[in-house]
This record gives sequence, structure tokens and C-alpha cells, in this order.
Amino acid sequence: MFFPTMASLSQSTSFLIIIIFVFSFILIPTTHAIPFIVLHGIGDKCSNRGITQFTELLSDWSNSQGYCLEIGHGSWDSWTMPLSEQTSIACEKVKNMSELGEGYNIIGLSQGNLIGRGIIEFCDGGPPVRNFISLGGPHAGTASIPFCGSALICILLDSLLKLEIYSNYVQEHLAPSGYLKIPTAMTDYLEGCRFLPKLNNEINGTRNSTYVERFASLQNLVLIMFEDDTVLIPKETSWFGYYPYGVFDPILPAQETKLYKEDWIGLKSLDEAGKVKFINVSGNHLQISKSDMKKYMVPYLEDQTSTEQTVTEPSSYEWFSRLWYLFEDLIGLNEDQSLLHTMF
Ligand SMILES: *[C@@H]1O[C@H](CO)[C@@H](O)[C@H](O)[C@H]1NC(C)=O
Ligand SMILES: *[C@@H]1O[C@H](CO)[C@@H](O)[C@H](O)[C@H]1NC(C)=O
Ligand SMILES: *[C@@H]1O[C@H](CO)[C@@H](O)[C@H](O)[C@H]1NC(C)=O
Ligand SMILES: *[C@@H]1O[C@H](CO)[C@@H](O)[C@H](O)[C@H]1NC(C)=O
Repeated sequence: MFFPTMASLSQSTSFLIIIIFVFSFILIPTTHAIPFIVLHGIGDKCSNRGITQFTELLSDWSNSQGYCLEIGHGSWDSWTMPLSEQTSIACEKVKNMSELGEGYNIIGLSQGNLIGRGIIEFCDGGPPVRNFISLGGPHAGTASIPFCGSALICILLDSLLKLEIYSNYVQEHLAPSGYLKIPTAMTDYLEGCRFLPKLNNEINGTRNSTYVERFASLQNLVLIMFEDDTVLIPKETSWFGYYPYGVFDPILPAQETKLYKEDWIGLKSLDEAGKVKFINVSGNHLQISKSDMKKYMVPYLEDQTSTEQTVTEPSSYEWFSRLWYLFEDLIGLNEDQSLLHTMF
């Protein structure tokens, strides 16, 4: 008979649809938290394995969507494009990402921190930034030239550095010249350096209160310093600490700098509101361990709106990723190993 066959066929079809429906609910991870973007350091690029894994792990642990934001052509442009230009590209990109419309978090790695702060302070009409997690950021500048190596680009950069750091030419062709701050050359720095003096509202008479308002509106500012950092000089710059004007000694803690005391960018306001977390971790520049990532980063990426969140049974997708990480741990990628290479 024709009819019964048809009926049983449609019955089994709807059964199949139900199965698929149920399974897709189980298999698709549900994300509750707002997304985050990662801004890499100098010489790095989003397609590198370390940064990809770093972003994925944080995404999985926090149940939030993470994106590594690339500016231009990765490592080359991270060295050679002025930071003001890198910041405007990043600003256009975040404005273009509809996923970020409801607000997002920024994770900055090394030089990427200055771009992150540039997005917060300078990006007109950009989506709101909630938490800013900074790993080894040269926030108050750095008094050393980053180690590069012997590749062709490094030879070119080296010859650039033999010229005047604060000259127009170097400022336009070497990104780190935008935050090289030689304490004994403060006049040249304030006159010639194109990026950091503006970002830190450092120049009397040109301070912009909009930057202060925007930076002070963060929910949390997490400043992670590496105890054994040999790349940032001094390492305390990760906490906004630096040398006084004119001398290389002593290193002032953030709270004793003018930037803080006169609240040039809103750091003091944030701190007094209990929103700045000064964290130190062991390891050299960017060598954060998985356990420290879980301890100091993940809590700010997780959903913070629903405090009454109940402990739910992990879905099969979560079980799978948990098993995978267990497996990774077993084969030797343990908690104390870092994913990121020492890059500036
Ligand atoms: C942003 O989107 C517009 C329109 O879709 C496009 O023309 C532009 O190139 C995008 N900008 C960036 C930086 O992706
Ligand atoms: C900043 O400039 C104002 C005038 O524009 C001046 O009165 C003030 O003393 C200056 N402050 C510092 C610390 O130089
Ligand atoms: C301060 O910055 C904002 C945002 O970029 C800008 O619109 C405004 O014109 C600036 N104000 C001054 C006095 O430069
Ligand atoms: C962080 O700083 C404190 C105080 O200076 C020190 O006792 C501690 O050992 C540091 N932690 C790490 C992980 O280096």
C-alpha cells in the first residue's frame, strides 16, 4: 500500500529532524559573555599558531567569542606602520564588526596594548569597551630598543635606528619609535614622538578630556606585569611605572608619576574606584602560563551580568574540549608552559 509507506516515511523524517535538532543544541556551544579581541605584539601575526591557540583557549575557558584583530600585513606592518595609523585601522575594523556592537573586551599583548588604548581613547563612534586586559604593555614608554635579530627587516630597522629616533622619518617608518621614551631626552621626546605623548595626555595645554572620560569608563583595567621581563625597560611600565623626567633612577611606581597624580588619562580615577588590578606573574615578556591565564584573565572575559548563574551540566561539546585539553596536558603542554613567544 502506498499511504502507510508515505506515512511511516514522513514519521521517520520528522524523527530524524528532531534528532538533528536536539543534537545541534547539544553540539553548538552557547556563548553568553560579550566577545573579546586580541591585539598582538610586534613581529607577530594572527595566523601564528601561538596566538591562535591563545585566543581559542581563552574563548573556550570563558565561553565567549574571541577574535584576533589583524592590522595590515601582520608582522611587517606591526614594525613599520606608525601606531597612529595602526590605531585608525583597528578603529575602523572594530566599528565594522557588528558582533562587538553590544560591547566587548580587549586583550593587548605588548605593543598591541597601545593600539588597544588608542582604540579606547581615540576611536570616535566605536563600540563600547568593557574590560581591558593588558599583558606586558609599554604603557609609560620603554627606554630600550627591542631585540630584533638578523633578518633583512632587522638590518633595515637597525639602520633606521642609527638616525634620530624622534625625527620625522623614523617616526613615520618605525612603530616602536612611537613609544620609545628616553628619560634623558625628554624635550626631544615631547616634541618629536608622535604617539605616546598624545595617548598619555602628556603635553600640557593639549590635554583632551574626551580621552580621560573614555578611558575612565572601563569596568576593569587588568595590568599584568612579568616579573622577569627583559624586553620592557623598565618592566614596571606594564603598571604605568617609569623613570622620572631627566634621569634613569629611581623607577617611580605608577602612583608617584605625574600621569597618575594629575590624572592625565583617568588612571587615578579608575584606581580609586577599585577598577585597576595590578598583577605580577612570573616569567619573561609575555610568557604567561595557562594557570595564570585562567586565574587572571578568564574571570574578566566570562559573563559578568548574570551573577545568579547556576552550574549547568557541560554539553557534549564542552566535554569534548575538556577531554582534548586533558589530552594536551598529558602529552606535555602543561599548565606552566606558555603559548606566546617572547615578542615585543
Ligand atoms: C568596513 O566596511 C565597509 C563597508 O562594508 C568597507 O568598505 C570597508 O573597507 C570596511 N573597513 C574595514 C577596515 O574593514
Ligand atoms: C600648564 O599650563 C598652564 C597654562 O596653560 C600653566 O598655568 C601651568 O602652570 C602648566 N602646568 C605645568 C605643570 O607645567
Ligand atoms: C578631543 O578628542 C575628541 C575625540 O577624538 C575630538 O573630537 C576633540 O575635537 C578633541 N578636542 C580637542 C580640544 O582637541
Ligand atoms: C609579585 O610581587 C610580590 C611583591 O613584590 C612578590 O612577593 C611576589 O613574589 C611577586 N609574584 C610573582 C609571581 O613574581
